[in-house]
Amino acid sequence: MPFAAGKDILEVRIRHADILRRVKAVASQISKDFKGERVHLIGVLKGACFFLADLAREINLECSLDFIAVASYGKTKESSGQVRMLKDLDQNIAGLNVILVEDILDTGLTASYLLRIMKQRRPKTLKMAALLDKPSRRLRPVKGDYIGFTIPNEFVVGYGLDYAERYRNLKDVCILQLPAS
Ligand code: IMP
Ligand code: MG
Repeated sequence: MPFAAGKDILEVRIRHADILRRVKAVASQISKDFKGERVHLIGVLKGACFFLADLAREINLECSLDFIAVASYGKTKESSGQVRMLKDLDQNIAGLNVILVEDILDTGLTASYLLRIMKQRRPKTLKMAALLDKPSRRLRPVKGDYIGFTIPNEFVVGYGLDYAERYRNLKDVCILQLPAS
């Protein structure tokens, strides 16, 4: 059983072994699509860190990494609807095969903001990878190029995803139920 704080209830939705199997498949698709080329993975902090670490190690190509941080949910489960840059990239991405790596595509606000900014910097190609996709929540027409799992409208934590900064370290992706207040 995953560790739950206080009266929170966690229910396993995607087991670690299934995550790793799927990450391998996504990495092999990327390796095929960019055969003979270099890819530049940009992880969106902090949620994508575990996904990016596992994905990068399964990609059989020349590969470089960078990170970007944006403000999203804060302490609640709902998006503020506004996206703010907290940490920009270290490197120039002009001419690179960029893959933006996100933990989850939810409303699509974060991804559409980041894709717009990245595009202005003239990468050679620009793709989007996300471990999870909740298409039913979309407010912007964003489509991931590499998706791990499509899930229904449930709030999930673990394998990088948090609730108020907690639960990122769970190995499985779990559904989080908060105690009724
Ligand atoms: P979007 O801008 O609404 O697509 O949200 C993207 C960000 O919201 C993600 O990178 C997550 O940090 C957060 N998020 C969305 N859904 C969930 C969830 O179910 N659990 C944890 N974080 C989530
Ligand atoms: Mg978050």
